Amino acid sequence: MTELLKVDNIELYYDHVYALKGVSIAINEGETVALIGANGAGKSSILRAITGLRKVRSGEIHYQDHRIDGTRPDKLVRMGIAMVPEARRVFSYMTVRDNLLMGAFTRTDKADIARTLEMVLGRFPRLKERYSQAAGTMSGGEQQMLVIGRALMAKPRLLLLDEPSLGIAPKLVQDIARSIVAINRDEKVSVLLVEQNSRMALRISQRAYVLTTGKVTLAGNSAEMLGDDRVKSLYLGGET
Ligand SMILES: Nc1ncnc2c1ncn2[C@@H]1O[C@H](COP(=O)(O)OP(=O)(O)OP(=O)(O)O)[C@@H](O)[C@H]1O
Ligand SMILES: [Mg+2]
Repeated sequence: MTELLKVDNIELYYDHVYALKGVSIAINEGETVALIGANGAGKSSILRAITGLRKVRSGEIHYQDHRIDGTRPDKLVRMGIAMVPEARRVFSYMTVRDNLLMGAFTRTDKADIARTLEMVLGRFPRLKERYSQAAGTMSGGEQQMLVIGRALMAKPRLLLLDEPSLGIAPKLVQDIARSIVAINRDEKVSVLLVEQNSRMALRISQRAYVLTTGKVTLAGNSAEMLGDDRVKSLYLGGET
């Protein structure tokens, strides 16, 4: 198994208050890894550290053979790391098509970009149906598909997803979960999935980390975690 990303003992602060206190996680080539935990646990902060949006105070982040903490966000996109941030921001007045093409801003090969566009529209038929519609007029679920599609336009090796199911109707959550599985399996994109919907995240990932106030408190196989009593009572609403 080849390690794609290694986050090694990072600390991250906002002013004088810590958000991450010595977090280590790893993602192997081809894996989908889930990151779950309560509001404010530091999940998004981990993604911000990986993508260079916030500087870590200590620790290291390695991607492939490079040490990447301190690297600029746009350079990380060129290296194959794409993120779908929280709250799915589309460019409201731009069409679906133009939103998608914005995702390819680091690329120059037009024929290759056109191929990726075909792939994204194949994965998300709704986006094809709404190709010329202004993005801001689409439903929340459709906008989520659009921001995932936009991230794929960068042709990433590693896709970081921050709560793609948030505020989305159950039927569309299923569709999005299926798309994530397909992207991972067919496009060979490794995925780090941050979710409040722990059950969905554990179902579609191979491994998972539980984060509690800036620390990893549990790590392991996702299927085993689905059956773990502690995980059930804390993160799966106590259901069996
Ligand atoms: N820009 C900021 N300035 C100050 N504190 C921040 C900032 N961003 C996040 N924090 C704090 O850092 C901690 C971790 O926040 P983070 O956004 O990483 O949590 P999260 O696990 O993603 O939560 P949620 O599930 O609500 O999205 C929280 O206590 C939060 O209030
Ligand atoms: Mg968050």
